[in-house]
Amino acid sequence: MQKLHDDLFNKGFHKLNDPELFKYLTEIDSWEWKNWKNQGLQLIKRNSIIEESINETQKLIADKYIKPLDESYRFGGECEIVNGMDDATLSWHNDNIEGYNLCVLLYMDSMDEDIGGMTRFRDIHSKEITGEFYPQKYDVSFMNHGVRFEHIVTPMKLPMDRRVALFNYNINKVLIG
Ligand SMILES: [Fe+2]
Repeated sequence: MQKLHDDLFNKGFHKLNDPELFKYLTEIDSWEWKNWKNQGLQLIKRNSIIEESINETQKLIADKYIKPLDESYRFGGECEIVNGMDDATLSWHNDNIEGYNLCVLLYMDSMDEDIGGMTRFRDIHSKEITGEFYPQKYDVSFMNHGVRFEHIVTPMKLPMDRRVALFNYNINKVLIG
């Protein structure tokens, strides 16, 4: 847990691989999508089963990773399952405006140099790159959505799924920096 905090604080993100966190999302291939903003981004079409899966996953992540980080964490709203990217994702940005200081991303598809879709982080002031990775299936990325870091996703080179589930939390600001 120390590594998770240190990475969040110093690099703006921490990545690990944990298939267990995907156990409520195994039916994803049969779920339907709706287009969003005509920018190549799709959102999952929510129904009560999917709603429940999202809520259970948010709790599972919290019990395993967020609570050990901060016992007084709070759940954030606006959790989503998305496929692809909108224009905003392809530019340097910070999602702090959404009002949650920690976002956890669950990746369902593997990316590589040929496919595109790399995630990159940098210090918002020095512009120094603090890390980058091509997400792999069952990767989990904890993102510091405080004010010190921003991120970008590189465009897809092949027309493939890039499905990501996003979960928001608020933790003590001191931990985010
Ligand atoms: Fe973002």
